[in-house]
Amino acid sequence: MQPTAQSISCQDSGPDSWLERRWLRIRRAALAGALPAALVVSIAIASDARVPYVPTPQGVVDKMLEMGKVGPADYIIDLGSGDGRIVVTAAQKFGARGFGVDLNPDRIKESNDNARRAGVTDKVSFQQRNLFEADLSQATVITMYLLPRVNLELRPKLLSLAPGTRLVSHDFDMGDWKPDQQTTMRDESKFGGSGGESDIYLWIVPAKAAGTWSWQGTVAGKPQSYEIRLDQKHQVITGSVWHAGRTATLRDAKLRGSEISFNFTIDVNGAPVRHIYTGKIGSDSILGTAEISGPRVQAQVEWSAVRGARSAAAHPLNHRTALN
Ligand SMILES: C[S@@+](CC[C@H](N)C(=O)[O-])C[C@H]1O[C@@H](n2cnc3c(N)ncnc32)[C@H](O)[C@@H]1O
Repeated sequence: MQPTAQSISCQDSGPDSWLERRWLRIRRAALAGALPAALVVSIAIASDARVPYVPTPQGVVDKMLEMGKVGPADYIIDLGSGDGRIVVTAAQKFGARGFGVDLNPDRIKESNDNARRAGVTDKVSFQQRNLFEADLSQATVITMYLLPRVNLELRPKLLSLAPGTRLVSHDFDMGDWKPDQQTTMRDESKFGGSGGESDIYLWIVPAKAAGTWSWQGTVAGKPQSYEIRLDQKHQVITGSVWHAGRTATLRDAKLRGSEISFNFTIDVNGAPVRHIYTGKIGSDSILGTAEISGPRVQAQVEWSAVRGARSAAAHPLNHRTALN
């Protein structure tokens, strides 16, 4: 396939592309007589057209779907779906529904044939279109075997998906958006049988947690108000809490999709009290539980926080928020 105007951004990997470097290594091995002639020809054609059609080995497909915890409730989209193996396997082995998109009409035909053979045409479909124009709103899982630069170009769109959406990428990462999980496996069928290692990356789309959150609680029978300010870089959160004129740093702050947790120790009624929070972030609220423990209190209570400062008081956290 010749590159089209639409495909250029995805297919032109640039000289620093890791995939191209791998391919060049394979081509060198092929020229040295270490690989079958058919593979040499297909790589040469693909490289000349700069179309990196490299199928993911079936063992790696299985691992990607396992890492993405794909199940019958999932809707999977493979961006640049090749012969459809990822989406077809997700339907056949894990009962998921979904679709694949690929620019190449031959790949779409192969995918439809593969879906028919696997008996999953009621669950999956394939669209010949630019992956950048695909509607991703239904996705609970997205898979990719693209190029680093394409992953980075897709990143803003992926980050805006529903919190909790799982993204699984073969071989290429997302720059400074660190994966939530990563593994490496060897598969002897990679690159048409020459064998190779595959890196698999998993990201969970994080909820938008940054900003100020506030809530009221009761400790040892007395009402207490709290505010936290969270800074966020992708799924990494840090922050501090303000309570009764004191501040403390949040410890073990974690965000996985919409699930948030953190803890802190701060004086309440004159004694240090440990607070452990776990909850789920909605659009403007967090609902969950709090465990409070100190010299005069031991309790597990419901926790409900709202976005924004509860009081207009000009305390340190409000001040910092206003400055940012
Ligand atoms: C490395 S292959 C991966 C195929 C499949 N996902 C797999 O893992 O086996 C990348 C695929 O992306 C397709 N592709 C490249 N640029 C694209 C674009 N802009 N839109 C849709 N598909 C594209 C290519 O035709 C190729 O089939």
